[in-house]
Amino acid sequence: HSNTVAKTLGGKLYYGSATDNPELNDTTYVAMLSDNTFFGQITPGNSMKWDATEPEQGVFTFAAGDVIADLAKSNGQVLRGHNCVWYNQLASWVTAANWTAAQATSILQTHVSTVVSHYAGQVYAWDVVNEPWNDDGTLREFIFPEILGISYITTALVAARTADPAAKLYINDYNIDSAGAKSTSMQNLVASLQAAGTPIDGIGIESHLIVGEVPSQAALITNYEAFTTLGIEIAITELDIRMTLPETPALLAQQKADYETVVSACKAVARCVGVTTWDYTDKYSWIPGTFPGQGAALPWDDNLVIKPAYDGLIAGF
Ligand code: XIL
Repeated sequence: HSNTVAKTLGGKLYYGSATDNPELNDTTYVAMLSDNTFFGQITPGNSMKWDATEPEQGVFTFAAGDVIADLAKSNGQVLRGHNCVWYNQLASWVTAANWTAAQATSILQTHVSTVVSHYAGQVYAWDVVNEPWNDDGTLREFIFPEILGISYITTALVAARTADPAAKLYINDYNIDSAGAKSTSMQNLVASLQAAGTPIDGIGIESHLIVGEVPSQAALITNYEAFTTLGIEIAITELDIRMTLPETPALLAQQKADYETVVSACKAVARCVGVTTWDYTDKYSWIPGTFPGQGAALPWDDNLVIKPAYDGLIAGF
């Protein structure tokens, strides 16, 4: 579980990548990903989410997640678990439910404890709760907070700690890179969890960013430290820096600078433990499918060839 196995680039941080099962048929892609002198960590992009792991109530399917966990193990890479509870990619039996508070608590506990137990001993850190906030800093509504209020977060964290006492327990979200309502809500949540004795070890800062709109390094560091001064660690968990297509030399140059800004900000903060890009090649990036007209967000291009962003990434480490 030590971070130290993953300190492959700059000596302090791990560098990692998300990956997803369909991509593992691409042997060139897998060979590059499996170089643990470069990629010290991997995250499953989809196959440990609720819809993948408990598609029917009480029916748990770990085959796809196990493929990613086994890949990390055979490559000697740290594994981040992603994720236990999220408003998105829930199974339809969950979104369609009409439960009492006792039922919702029990279903959440069973899901979290079964998934985290299955991977116990294999996971460095779990994104136990994913994306709990709206951008204005209010609690994002979906079935669990609607029934249980914010206490669903405590229920999930406690169940995860019991299931794998060695795993670091994270809450993960986007648009918490610099100061603002969402960052403040997350920082206040961490403090209130700690005051209540609820386990919380880290905050994941997704960092789905836009070329030319990345906060200044000083603004990043100030906000990162607002988290770590609470006594927790942080990680950059899903970094990509997208642009409106087509790519141009100017955009690629700005992207290079933006990658260096983010990675070096993490490096400057003692308890920022690593940087994960949300996959490593544009070939498998989620961005074009979710943000039409945007893309080219990762350090390797569609042909698995490095881009200027790669040099920015390396410079940051
Ligand atoms: C994305 C995956 O990459 C896609 O394949 C899937 O269709 C949707 O989810 N925030 C998260 C990740 O925490 O789980 C999301 O991953 C990207 C945004």
